[in-house]
Amino acid sequence: MTTGAILETRALVHVYPGGTRAVDGVDLVIGRGERVAIIGQNGSGKTTLVRHFNGLLRPTEGTVLVDGTDAAGRRVAALAASIGLAFQDPDRQIFAARVRSEVAFGPRNLGRSGADLDRAVDEALVATGLDGEAATNPYDLGYSRRKLLAMASILAMNTPVVVLDEPTTGQDARGVARIQRVVAGLAGQGRTVVAISHDMRFVAETFERVVVMGSGRILLDGTPAEVFAEPAWPTLASTYLEPPLAARIGARLGLGATPTERGLVDALTNRSSGILPT
Ligand SMILES: Nc1ncnc2c1ncn2[C@@H]1O[C@H](COP(=O)(O)OP(=O)(O)OP(=O)(O)O)[C@@H](O)[C@H]1O
Ligand SMILES: [Mg+2]
Repeated sequence: MTTGAILETRALVHVYPGGTRAVDGVDLVIGRGERVAIIGQNGSGKTTLVRHFNGLLRPTEGTVLVDGTDAAGRRVAALAASIGLAFQDPDRQIFAARVRSEVAFGPRNLGRSGADLDRAVDEALVATGLDGEAATNPYDLGYSRRKLLAMASILAMNTPVVVLDEPTTGQDARGVARIQRVVAGLAGQGRTVVAISHDMRFVAETFERVVVMGSGRILLDGTPAEVFAEPAWPTLASTYLEPPLAARIGARLGLGATPTERGLVDALTNRSSGILPT
């Protein structure tokens, strides 16, 4: 569902002090309520790009617009009401001594208190499966749960835009399914989700739009069916990406790049296909 841009970058360039041109002219328009995945090889500029959305980084050149307004004139604290960003490295985000206080910090800063604050924190803890850990010291949680805690802290802020930097890193199948439910839930509320990921299956199954980055630029931008289709494979390979296995088999079977499991099984077991022995 798209009803106007909530995030936009125009000719965005970011050059780090050492001279690395990490983002090299990105024009990107993200509509309200969209679910967008950003993929690309290590060092292609994904994290650098999204850190501009909430003002943690500022453009070397170009513009970032949040809800139609130039972000340059807005402080990080003000942008935090619109854009929640869960860090790639949770240990750079987490600072509190208890899980509950970590999750409460953001919404309290946005002015929530009392029962309203408690509800926001409880919902975020339940959504991330951390409801039994409210009193735990975050550093007693394993890495995968610290990642979920970093996400919970952002969810509790109830921002219209949620940006997740590699949410599935370190997650088992249950953790990935949990994150998929979180993304679906946010989308169901009309909120915008942008996630960076190296997990192609997660990307294909969870997002309606995929932006492919290489060397600080956007190489491809389309639906999973378009971006993982065979004509796009050379471009994906240029940024060290492989389409999900289902996409590769789906292409071979003429089912397109986002086949359902049912469709694959039917095609593979169809005697007339000649793929399996009769
Ligand atoms: N703080 C920094 N100072 C200098 N260079 C940086 C800094 N952060 C990132 N870079 C460089 O900028 C480029 C883009 O990095 P970035 O972290 O945005 O990539 P990425 O696509 O998120 O990679 P990954 O998949 O490994 O997380 C890389 O060459 C990286 O080494
Ligand atoms: Mg990154």
